[in-house]
Amino acid sequence: MPSFALDPAWVAELRRALLEWFGTHKRPTPWRDNPDPYRVWVSEVMLQQTQTATVIPYFERFIARFPTVQALAEAPLEEVLRYWEGLGYYARARNLHRAAQQVVRDGGQLPSTPDRLRELPGVGAYTAGAIASIAFGQPAPVVDGNVVRVLARLLWLAGDLRTTEAQKSLWQIAEQLVDPVRPGEFNQALMELGSTVCTPTQPRCDACPVRCLCEAYRRGRPTAVPEPRRRPPLRTITEVSAIIERERRYLLAQRAPEGLWGGLWEFPRATCVTHESLEAVAERAARQVGIQAAPLRALTLVRHTVTYSRIQLYGYLCTWQAGEAQAEEYRAIAWATLDEISQYPLPAPQRRLAAALASSFQTNLPKSGSWTQLSLLFQDEAE
Ligand code: ADE
Repeated sequence: MPSFALDPAWVAELRRALLEWFGTHKRPTPWRDNPDPYRVWVSEVMLQQTQTATVIPYFERFIARFPTVQALAEAPLEEVLRYWEGLGYYARARNLHRAAQQVVRDGGQLPSTPDRLRELPGVGAYTAGAIASIAFGQPAPVVDGNVVRVLARLLWLAGDLRTTEAQKSLWQIAEQLVDPVRPGEFNQALMELGSTVCTPTQPRCDACPVRCLCEAYRRGRPTAVPEPRRRPPLRTITEVSAIIERERRYLLAQRAPEGLWGGLWEFPRATCVTHESLEAVAERAARQVGIQAAPLRALTLVRHTVTYSRIQLYGYLCTWQAGEAQAEEYRAIAWATLDEISQYPLPAPQRRLAAALASSFQTNLPKSGSWTQLSLLFQDEAE
């Protein structure tokens, strides 16, 4: 992509129209009411992969429990993860916690420039630009998925915009565009336009404050850019979590710190290979943590999607027969009562297994459930 020198009159009109629109159309959010740097930081980390409407209640609960960077730094990681539960991408919470400790060690104030902000764990170019502009009024650009789409349409940026070179050009464009007087509002306006008006498949051009400045609109092809991402087809994977009971306690295992759901707890889990029965996988899942268990019955099925895989996760109730639990591939293990399970941070699909377990005590489920009698849960997970 060539480097762009934008027409100053076009840039001035874009800033004016966007800022005016944002003044009347911005969604009310708790972080906008009080853009203190810590609150902006927490909100931007939550917003990285999650929609505004979903983030609001999480943000409110999080800020009520951890109102300051000091409160967050002092809290145990397990509790921070518990407050993050359901938002997904837990590395964000672990980084936020580590970064809070770093900020407190360095005097308790969040840095105000993008370069210094980027020294914090989990703060990349986007988050640094967002905090610097929104909380500190610095004329720093931001480029997220919404901004890429808006810029691609305004300027008719054809071709693959995920290449390093294209990304560099997009940041250069955003740098030229950002309003030097109201950078935080300008950046938020650009992102808000992308999430509420200039949407991926059905943009509402009739409600767009900058359509007269938009090349894709002028060409009558607003959705032709940016070029869609080519996704590999989804694979389907079957997993079984052994819900092992021993004297009214259930075995939970903590995942290794890295990767998806790192550091969270789950009922020991194994993946089905072709033609393996659910019972056999449940027994294997139990053996993985040193337990010989007798499979009783499938309790529930939870479907969720993780990046390129569609996962069907069965919760299989088993009774302990022999063996002392060992962490093996896991980081730690614990026998928890039904009540205690609620204190452990679990990934959303595992929490649904726990909910099915709890409700199996409230309803008279048949001992060997036929599929029509199982409580099937079909919510999709964005992780
Ligand atoms: N997406 C991520 N951060 C945002 C913000 N501050 N305003 C609007 N949309 C966003």
